[in-house]
Amino acid sequence: MSLQDFLSTLDGLEEEASAAFQNASDSDALEVARVRYLGQKSGALRDVQKRMGSIDKADRKTAGMRLNQFKSNVQTTFDGAKERLSGVASTGVDPTFDPSLPGSRPSIGHVHPVTQTITHLMEIMGRMGFEAAEGPEVEDPWHNFVALNIPEDHPARDPLDNFYLATAKNGSGDRTIEGSQLLRSQTSTVQIRVMENKQPPIRVISLGRVYRPDAPDATHFPMFHQMEGLLVDKHVTMANLKTVLRVFATNYLGDDVEIRFRPSFFPFTEPSVEVDFHWNGAWIEFGGAGMVDPAVFEAVGYDPEVYSGFAFGLGVERLCMRRHGITDIRDLYSGDLRFLQQF
Ligand code: FA5
Repeated sequence: MSLQDFLSTLDGLEEEASAAFQNASDSDALEVARVRYLGQKSGALRDVQKRMGSIDKADRKTAGMRLNQFKSNVQTTFDGAKERLSGVASTGVDPTFDPSLPGSRPSIGHVHPVTQTITHLMEIMGRMGFEAAEGPEVEDPWHNFVALNIPEDHPARDPLDNFYLATAKNGSGDRTIEGSQLLRSQTSTVQIRVMENKQPPIRVISLGRVYRPDAPDATHFPMFHQMEGLLVDKHVTMANLKTVLRVFATNYLGDDVEIRFRPSFFPFTEPSVEVDFHWNGAWIEFGGAGMVDPAVFEAVGYDPEVYSGFAFGLGVERLCMRRHGITDIRDLYSGDLRFLQQF
């Protein structure tokens, strides 16, 4: 074979192979073209290479150089076609990415239903002039019991009914004794803290966690929240208490709420009542209330002859559950997002 024929065969083959690679519409078609032109067993290139032997020795160097150039050119065209068909086109744009499709929305967390309830309760009571007060969750027996007229031998102080801290010396009534702390069992502790630091008139609410070793069931949990209310002034009466609770209940649940007081007993109020709301066909107990006991006023240094007041403590979870139709308090603390995301 003459050098001239060899070179023109290669030229034709290069043009043909490049066109075949560039026009391949998918990777299968590209593979067919590859085998036809570059295949080791029967490809066109192999046939041309075989003919090298029949070229004059003097021309073989030129023929070899052209052959190498052919291989490199065809390989480049092949690689380009392969890249185009594998999805990443030479423009750098990924055809599998469609910018016109809607994006996936990032999921945004939201406030827990009990926290939402707390905010709502603070807002309603705020409109009636009640300011928010806070107290610690780890309490001493003075604020949790003694000042609230719960003496040392009272069953409410039983270790079975309270979470005393591990270092506690149970039964100590003295506020100065160390190691007798407990997790507060009621927000009534904050009544004492407020009155110790401020003179009447007083109109506060306190919303926070309390702890009791109650076995969990549909309406009880060992950690729950209470809303404590305290109003102290001259000439405060039970009628004022009932009005405030009625206004609260109608604002929270609606105009069709009825309110009922049942006689009860708390050491820190006299008289004492249980507070029930009637709504959607059922009476439900939400908490306790009463007129502040004179012994409590004496403990904080108020003159019971001059001042009177009322206090109440309502279960926040019970209020939250009633409004949202939640039937099991444990759902609120299960951490199950399928439940929580509904609120
Ligand atoms: C008290 O805790 C009194 N401190 C309330 C009070 C305040 C009376 C001021 C007078 C003056 P009681 O133990 O009944 O009362 O609890 C009040 C409310 O907390 C209950 O009616 C109930 O709604 C809620 N509650 C009590 N225990 C649990 C519990 N384990 N889980 C969820 N809610 C509870």
